[in-house]
Amino acid sequence: MKNVMTYGTFDLFHYGHLRLLERAKALGDHLTVAVSTDDFNAVKGKKCTYPFEHRARIVAAIRYVDRVIPERNWEQKVDDIKKFNIDVFVIGDDWQGKFDHLREYCEVVYLPRTSNISTTEIKQNVHKEVKRRS
Ligand code: CTP
Repeated sequence: MKNVMTYGTFDLFHYGHLRLLERAKALGDHLTVAVSTDDFNAVKGKKCTYPFEHRARIVAAIRYVDRVIPERNWEQKVDDIKKFNIDVFVIGDDWQGKFDHLREYCEVVYLPRTSNISTTEIKQNVHKEVKRRS
């Protein structure tokens, strides 16, 4: 049994998120996803459109996902890896090199991001459209 884990915000769930979770699950047998809480986003200076409860429920409903936990801080990863017996930590390559220190505890994989889609871009496009229409 190979346990995989990933972390993310997953606001305005989109195709890039789906592909990331699909490829993450394909790296093993069981996928745990840590979804950032609203409080942690505030620390990061990020404001989500959907609250944590909704983001977590959407991610939990994806067929590749076996477990969702809250991501409350930067430091919890080592504890999570030990607690859930994680073999593979995976994340998109916008984080390339940022989590290499976790190689001491498990395999670390950076997956290529799906091109031309992000939550930030969706938000910007909606804002532009609203402005254009007003
Ligand atoms: N991701 C991806 N391809 C995309 C967008 C995201 O593979 N086009 C991956 C990220 O690399 C990360 C996970 O999906 O591993 C969650 O990303 P998140 O930051 O929640 O999504 P973004 O759309 O990148 O959001 P933002 O624009 O707010 O950074």
